Amino acid sequence: MSFKEINLEMLPQHIAIIMDGNGRWAKQHGKMRVRGHEAGAQAVRKTVESAAKLGIKHLTLYAFSTENWSRPKTEVNTLMGLLVKSLRRELERMVTNNIKLSAIGSLDKLPKSVQHELQEVILKTTHNSGTHLTLAISYGAREEIKQAVKQISEKVKNNIIPVESIDETIINEHLYTQHLPDVDLLIRTSGEVRISNFLLWQIAYAELYFTDELWPEFDEQSLNQAILSYQKRERRFGKTSEQLT
Ligand code: FPP
Repeated sequence: MSFKEINLEMLPQHIAIIMDGNGRWAKQHGKMRVRGHEAGAQAVRKTVESAAKLGIKHLTLYAFSTENWSRPKTEVNTLMGLLVKSLRRELERMVTNNIKLSAIGSLDKLPKSVQHELQEVILKTTHNSGTHLTLAISYGAREEIKQAVKQISEKVKNNIIPVESIDETIINEHLYTQHLPDVDLLIRTSGEVRISNFLLWQIAYAELYFTDELWPEFDEQSLNQAILSYQKRERRFGKTSEQLT
């Protein structure tokens, strides 16, 4: 799928990706699961740089879910170690490529080494104006919504806001993604067709794109293919086709 076929005037503003299939990729290649995750980290780099090259404004990657904490301890440790290593290794390239990093999720549950590395990269890329990369780590959409409901309830209880004022804007303002627009295109790799507790509120009108490719196989061409599929769709947001023209 060539870059030239993409209409740069109609790019999705916010792409979110459920990166799935590292383990199956490793199995297919007769390797340990850790090698699958390492290959997955390479795919992250390629995807971020491809998105930056196209001029995608926001890219959000599901790196570790709240449910992933129940994987075997050794695999959790491997993933955390890989995060630290990748953040350290990629900092310079992120700065060169003008990428701004953010993170969403229950970040306080992460090992201190990961929190420290994240803070460092977030700080050093904070003024970058290119692609805004958000890593969802220790993230769960239900947890995100639960904490938003709690915060809003506290404000109502303390007479900071009246109950009547609660609307979509107020809810948005209490989500981890308060600085991000809604997701336009959600991609999931590895042939699984589910959302797995990712950005449930923010994908209300997203176009969904599922590919059989395993995450380590995902590259620039795969991203372009997904964007092209998005550009062929008609987004009606509940209206009729005629109303849109
Ligand atoms: C899914 O594959 C992937 C993950 C649980 C973690 C994603 C992590 C990475 C891509 C590596 C590092 C990330 C960054 C941001 C540098 P799986 O293990 O569920 O695969 P399977 O379903 O085939 O077993």
